[in-house]
Amino acid sequence: MTNRASTLRLKSSAGLLSEDSLSARFLDSPMAEDIAEVLITEQEIQARIAELGAQISADYRDKDPVLVGVLRGVFMFMADLVRQITIPISVDFIGITRYGPSTRTHGVVRFVKDLEISIENRHVLFVEDVIDTGLSLRYILHSLETRQPASLRICTLFNKPRIRLFNLDVAYTGFVLPDKFVVGYGLDYDERYRNLPFVGVLHDSVITQQRLPTHP
Ligand code: IMP
Ligand code: MG
Repeated sequence: MTNRASTLRLKSSAGLLSEDSLSARFLDSPMAEDIAEVLITEQEIQARIAELGAQISADYRDKDPVLVGVLRGVFMFMADLVRQITIPISVDFIGITRYGPSTRTHGVVRFVKDLEISIENRHVLFVEDVIDTGLSLRYILHSLETRQPASLRICTLFNKPRIRLFNLDVAYTGFVLPDKFVVGYGLDYDERYRNLPFVGVLHDSVITQQRLPTHP
């Protein structure tokens, strides 16, 4: 077992927040009491993003890639990732709305903001915050493919190990998460907690039937 894995196991068995797991400046945050467990610390996230940035810089040297993200969850990862990429790149975003009122993804999305950069003949790296069912991702990728990029690959910070009914080839993965609903580092519950610099799980009491997450 790696050091990181054993640290995480200790954290989850203790189920407690400590100055070590919670970024120190958030210890007094009103949000801290809503967090049952920190899964990945700010330091761990930043260290992994530095590795991803170095790998992408090497793999895409001389390729002038376009990094494409889906608003809004990816804003924090994209901002930190591009600062670790040392080659010339372009960055663009799409905005989507998912159909359906529930937490479940049905895989049908509507574009509410399209790309401003043409990706035809460009090397596209699609950047995601988290892949859960992968259904909305599949829909978006299909749309990007019709624009005939030179290449199209996926980079996700978090990947949930869900068994997918279709083949999803993820070139870069930051962390594999347990199949739990998490918040922080861009991920929200009812539009809250996006600004936490770590990723954690909420107490059950915070998640009520009346306040289901529906937004990307
Ligand atoms: P899917 O892969 O089509 O199921 O949808 C993934 C999207 O659902 C992500 O881009 C997030 O916006 C949202 N999502 C999935 N899992 C979580 C989570 O644990 N916390 C917060 N949002 C999540
Ligand atoms: Mg959301």
